[in-house]
Amino acid sequence: MLPSDHAAVVERVVEHPLPYFSLLLDAPPGWAELAAGQFVMVRAGDGLAPFLRRAFSVHDASSSPAGARIELLIKAVGPGTRALAGARPGDRLSVLGPLGHGFSLPAEGPVALVAGGIGSAPLYLLGRRLVERGVRFDLFYGGRGRADLPCLERFAALARRSGGRLVATTEDGSAGERGLVTGPFERSLAAGEFRFFYACGPMGLLARLAALSAAHGVAGEAALETAMGCGFGACLGCAVPRPDGRFALCCQDGPVFPFSEVAW
Ligand SMILES: Cc1cc2nc3c(=O)[nH]c(=O)nc-3n(C[C@H](O)[C@H](O)[C@H](O)COP(=O)(O)OP(=O)(O)OC[C@H]3O[C@@H](n4cnc5c(N)ncnc54)[C@H](O)[C@@H]3O)c2cc1C
Ligand code: FES
Repeated sequence: MLPSDHAAVVERVVEHPLPYFSLLLDAPPGWAELAAGQFVMVRAGDGLAPFLRRAFSVHDASSSPAGARIELLIKAVGPGTRALAGARPGDRLSVLGPLGHGFSLPAEGPVALVAGGIGSAPLYLLGRRLVERGVRFDLFYGGRGRADLPCLERFAALARRSGGRLVATTEDGSAGERGLVTGPFERSLAAGEFRFFYACGPMGLLARLAALSAAHGVAGEAALETAMGCGFGACLGCAVPRPDGRFALCCQDGPVFPFSEVAW
């Protein structure tokens, strides 16, 4: 589907514990079928600041008699995301998309999804696509504390629908197992529980997962959140180093890459 610049109407704003919130936006026909991992670039203000659009993964996409709808799950971290946190139903936002390539879908499971904090954003739509295909998945969902797992119950319900389970971890022990999400994930990987896995989160987490993928011989894909200027290949600001010494553009060649195709 070719990208378009859509003046999206804000249908709902869902406030999770701060600093997380969700925006439900109307979308052009066809967006209900977006691939998990694709993203949009959103203008976060009417004036010159913030000048650049901000990138957000499509958290969910659906259709209704009224048309298509997308949901963005956002963590307010700076001026752009804080401006978006002030959006109200009926506001219009300039949304450019769909952009990038999404996750590949497996013929069969079981697979694992590994989310670090706001890296959970693209994995909800991926989980829905897996449920639609009858693929079982376990979701490993880690954050600093309970507030960093804003969609915990929703993810748990989705994993159960696939026949799998949700494993939560927090560094402060306020939910799930205390520690890093790589702890229980590596135990399951070593036990041979998965054929493939998918991840999104901070670069440090993804680099560690790349090492686990190689060590245990289980391939996977990661959605990268490299800072982006344009989102469509014009600014060359989102270079991702490859193992052969060349560079990929995160916005055009990704944001989803096989673990083996990035020089972590
Ligand atoms: C493909 C893609 C998908 C993304 N999906 C989501 C999503 O679904 N939900 C969401 O909340 N965020 C997502 N992000 C990150 C989001 O784009 C940034 O948080 C946002 O641009 C920050 O804008 P700001 O003006 O609020 O803060 P800025 O002032 O731009 O940044 C504030 C702080 O956040 C850091 N930061 C900015 N961008 C990133 C980034 N990409 N990764 C890590 N740190 C960053 C900055 O270094 C700075 O310290 C995604 C990014 C990419 C590239
Ligand atoms: S963000 Fe501009 S080239 Fe990728």
